Amino acid sequence: MALRLGDEAPNFTAETTEGAIDFHEWLGDSWGVLFSHPADFTPVCTTELGAVAKTKEDFTKRNVKVIAISVDTLESHQGWISDIDETQNTTMNFPIIADPDRQVATLYDMIHPKADDKMTVRSVFVIGPDKKIKLTITYPASTGRNFSELLRVIDSLQLTARHKVATPANWQDGEDCIIVPAVTNDQIPELFPKGHREIKPYLRYTPQPNK
Ligand code: BEZ
Repeated sequence: MALRLGDEAPNFTAETTEGAIDFHEWLGDSWGVLFSHPADFTPVCTTELGAVAKTKEDFTKRNVKVIAISVDTLESHQGWISDIDETQNTTMNFPIIADPDRQVATLYDMIHPKADDKMTVRSVFVIGPDKKIKLTITYPASTGRNFSELLRVIDSLQLTARHKVATPANWQDGEDCIIVPAVTNDQIPELFPKGHREIKPYLRYTPQPNK
């Protein structure tokens, strides 16, 4: 069955390009991003891994560990990493899971047979420090992911985990947030000392609480 928001991210052990891991142990107290690649030595995946390697610091500073997966062997991954480094002008700096028997791909429902019965789609799972799934996104193989959007969503997830706010359409870190409907107007001064503006009783904005 497909994994849903709030489900525990299934644990697994696997070989990766940075050694064998127990997924939950590897995550530790961090947030995690697990993202799948249809196959090694494919053009879009190559650009994606290069893009994440170049911006890994943006994930690290948010306390997020990133890990990729492709249903190919460790040996294949090692050869591919040389190509990624060469063509994307980077140095790979996060692990790729080898999943030739599709154990992890099956556990996370990353193979969508009506799209392709062998390769995974481009799945993204954001996992919280409580090991619960906070976000899933599924792209087709033909569309490379937007990792700036992923960072934007992580900012929103981390903010809304700590404060009683939600983030509006196209929100970017630093912009005003929406006070969640469960907060009464009486609670606002204590929860949001920076103030608020009420457009409608259900649409109340406040400056981003953690800025
Ligand atoms: C790619 O990563 O370039 C790719 C993989 C599968 C289908 C289409 C593109």
